Amino acid sequence: MLSLRLKTIADLVSKNSNVIDIGTDHAYLPIYLYQNNITNNITASDVSPRVLKSSYENLKKYNLENKIPLILSNGFNNIKKTFDIAIIAGMGAHTIKTILNNSNIPNILIIQSNNDHYELRKYLNSLNYKIAKEIAIKDKKHYYIIIKYIKEKETLTNSELLFGKSNNIDYFNYLKEKYQDLYNKSHNKLFLDYIKILNNLIEKIPVNY
Ligand SMILES: C[S@@+](CC[C@H](N)C(=O)[O-])C[C@H]1O[C@@H](n2cnc3c(N)ncnc32)[C@H](O)[C@@H]1O
Repeated sequence: MLSLRLKTIADLVSKNSNVIDIGTDHAYLPIYLYQNNITNNITASDVSPRVLKSSYENLKKYNLENKIPLILSNGFNNIKKTFDIAIIAGMGAHTIKTILNNSNIPNILIIQSNNDHYELRKYLNSLNYKIAKEIAIKDKKHYYIIIKYIKEKETLTNSELLFGKSNNIDYFNYLKEKYQDLYNKSHNKLFLDYIKILNNLIEKIPVNY
């Protein structure tokens, strides 16, 4: 079964769009998109030949090896076609920024970075991508921030750059965990104040929000 993280990403893909999954690894996401009739117009790519071999084996398991093209490519370097949406997930912000440094990046991006969300929000803002939707989820023990960007200029406040645009319970819990961790490392009482503020906010959020 697809992880909640990948399922949340899949839910952001518009029906029948032309999608590339950069750094596909096991190709679970392209397989899910195809099998669930979200789109059958998917290309999967990865920088590693070894990884692509196992993606191919996975595609074969579902008879999709002739339906989902696999491309060996470092980011967009070897991608000649254009796409409606690129998914770049499960990588660090530094790698994602390097991948985005290419003139062939589509107008819609779905990005899940493992770190440095602030740096990445700033970078995408400088490339004139707007945060269309930002979702925080807890999948097993980890929090993930998933952002759908569209090519459009937007002005973000410093707090939006820092904290993004999620406003659901998982997001505030994620911040609480982060500040707790910062407090544990620094014993800076300011972080305890932040946690108090976050607790007050969480209490006000309706259940299931
Ligand atoms: C942790 S996996 C994430 C797989 C999948 N995207 C997900 O979110 O579950 C990271 C994958 O990105 C690939 N990767 C890392 N740097 C890359 C790059 N510059 N271009 C393309 N793929 C890259 C790795 O080979 C690996 O398969």
